[in-house]
Amino acid sequence: VVQVLGIDSAEILKAVEEVPVLSDSASQLLMLASREDQSLLELEKVVEKDVNLTSQIFKVVNSAAFGLMTPVKTLGRGINYLGVRNVVGLALQMSVGSVYNGRLMGYESEPGELWNHCLQTAIAAREIAKCSKTKLNTDTAYAAGLLHDIGKAVISQFLFGTAQDILASIEHTESVDYLMKEEEITGTNHSKLGFELSKRWNLPQDFAQAILHHHHPDQAPDEFKAIAYIVHLADFVAMMVGSMTSSDAMLYQLDEGYREYIDFDELGLERVMSETCLEFRQIHDSLSSVRD
Ligand SMILES: [Fe+2]
Ligand SMILES: [Fe+2]
Repeated sequence: VVQVLGIDSAEILKAVEEVPVLSDSASQLLMLASREDQSLLELEKVVEKDVNLTSQIFKVVNSAAFGLMTPVKTLGRGINYLGVRNVVGLALQMSVGSVYNGRLMGYESEPGELWNHCLQTAIAAREIAKCSKTKLNTDTAYAAGLLHDIGKAVISQFLFGTAQDILASIEHTESVDYLMKEEEITGTNHSKLGFELSKRWNLPQDFAQAILHHHHPDQAPDEFKAIAYIVHLADFVAMMVGSMTSSDAMLYQLDEGYREYIDFDELGLERVMSETCLEFRQIHDSLSSVRD
């Protein structure tokens, strides 16, 4: 039986405040990614103010793993090759990598698991967004995927030692929902804490709402339902193709309502899964080849 540990909500909110803030470049790039379209020039202007990000972009596109025949010498071409989505990913890794890369003790997962899961969700969300019935920028979907589980980095410490009890208690219940168990133990959950963090990070509403509603997209305000459902489905794709070492893997309800927002026949879930695996391997190799 899961015991309520009586965690002070002030203590949890304090933990949100202790999370590092985004760099200016990461913040501005996310802002651009949330817009319907953005020009290369705008991206370049943001990136060139961040020396570390600029040099990292050159390192990635010119790495052996990226596989270009001729070296890239201008920032514009570098950004072009990577795409908005990967520039955002790099900026997040460089500014709040410590949030993503640590070991989540509360979920008994491996170090780096949160980042890998968010990256897989992002790739899947972009694929799914291509079949969205309402017009939706695929880079917005990607960035929302990257951010969706960020609250886990905050709640993890308060879930320490609870995973086995949660799994045992879920075995005896009919409706599987890890989120509810988090709520029972801490009085909050990783979606809500991610939403708190999105305020601290000044994230655009698309991302804040996708984070808050990614497990129950039917509860999102109408104008954010499409993005919430896309991230919701992408999360499942990521859990299906991922390493599943996290204690909550697949222990959520799938809301079939996504069919209202996504042209499911055109989508082809099998294809999304294999695309996700493929792109994940490519970008993960490129990124890790420059990290050390
Ligand atoms: Fe989640
Ligand atoms: Fe997730």
